Amino acid sequence: MRPFDGRRVLLVVSGGIAAYKSAFLSRRLIQAGASVDVILTEAAQRFVGAETFEGITGRQVHTKLWQTAMAHLDLGKSADVIVVAPATADLISSMAVGGAKDLASATLLAAEAPVIVCPAMNTRMWKHPATQANICSLLKFGYDIVGPAEGPLAEGESGVGRLVEPEEIMASIGKALESHSRFEGLKVVVTAGPTRSSLDPVRFLSNRSSGRMGYSLARASWRRGGSVTLITGPAMPTSTFGLSVIEVETAQEMQEALKAELAEADVLIMTAAVADFEVVRMPDAKIKKEGSEGLTLSLHPGPDLLLETKSLREKNGIFTLGFALETEDAIENGRDKMERKGMQLVAVNVANEPGAGFEVETNRISLVHSSGKVEELPLATKEELADQLLDHIESAMDE
Ligand SMILES: Cc1cc2nc3c(=O)[nH]c(=O)nc-3n(C[C@H](O)[C@H](O)[C@H](O)COP(=O)(O)O)c2cc1C
Repeated sequence: MRPFDGRRVLLVVSGGIAAYKSAFLSRRLIQAGASVDVILTEAAQRFVGAETFEGITGRQVHTKLWQTAMAHLDLGKSADVIVVAPATADLISSMAVGGAKDLASATLLAAEAPVIVCPAMNTRMWKHPATQANICSLLKFGYDIVGPAEGPLAEGESGVGRLVEPEEIMASIGKALESHSRFEGLKVVVTAGPTRSSLDPVRFLSNRSSGRMGYSLARASWRRGGSVTLITGPAMPTSTFGLSVIEVETAQEMQEALKAELAEADVLIMTAAVADFEVVRMPDAKIKKEGSEGLTLSLHPGPDLLLETKSLREKNGIFTLGFALETEDAIENGRDKMERKGMQLVAVNVANEPGAGFEVETNRISLVHSSGKVEELPLATKEELADQLLDHIESAMDE
């Protein structure tokens, strides 16, 4: 199942340079399973043609208030979410005063679905008190304002005013489409990725964790209304929109960040593959290749983050989902970890199974509950599994 299957998105494109980016956005929405209706303002059609959106969405594009009677009422009524991207200064001002002179503004005035507004304009237009006052009005109406971002703008200028990237708009749409959740208002801490332990000033010991599972869980927790802190080791670059991110490298750094964040947390999701071993004494200088024949490394165990935060988590009533990557006796080892380290759920995956574990897009999880019950979650993408795991956390929290 794709994340937006069966959902209807109304995309309103107004007349700014960034209108072309909305074609990419409509494509992403279609790929995610949404059905997409597009309204183009008159000015938008000077930047990008209706045919582009019709080709991508497979649906007729709407441009005129007088084209079909009641289109301005019907389009908004059937949408689950409305996205205005790019939102020009002109359309924003019209929305702020309840204008209805064209199809875009009339539809927005009549709509009851959640509205996401993604402004894009020259910095001076954005900073003008009139635009700022209009944005304040939109916020008061309950619209979600996403962006603008800072960076290079048209005509060689730079500053605040860029349309945010389609990835960030997709994340906000996902959040708007999420129904009411147990995560609303909770503080969620997610650890992700590997940690490194230095062998010498230029080399390190680490593991194959990509961070995908943890990042997916962090994004899904945010979509459900959680306030999410992601503590991440060096992982693949991927979207962290909406998350508060703490980047760390070593197990000690992750441990310190974790202890500080747990003071206020309600839920901990521990997916990080924290390095188990550390070099006993790190040399000050790079180990030379010459003369390294027979070189041995003396290792000792690194910190056990779950064990060391057990009493704090128990004292503060923090619901904990841990991950266990095993190569043998997976379920038994998972159960044992759950008891020793004080967790409520353990997601066990087997490292040597195809399509599961590190460095792959998919995973297969056996979910061990504190009651001893084991549920097999079928092979799925890490994004899909993240949502399933959060469903399990929600029901376990209610038990
Ligand atoms: C080349 C060009 C680029 C423009 N880019 C923007 C822009 O990025 N953001 C903006 O708010 N207005 C921009 N404008 C001004 C709008 O196109 C103009 O205000 C128009 O009336 C907006 O109409 P609409 O809001 O109905 O789409 C641009 C105008 C031109 C001629």
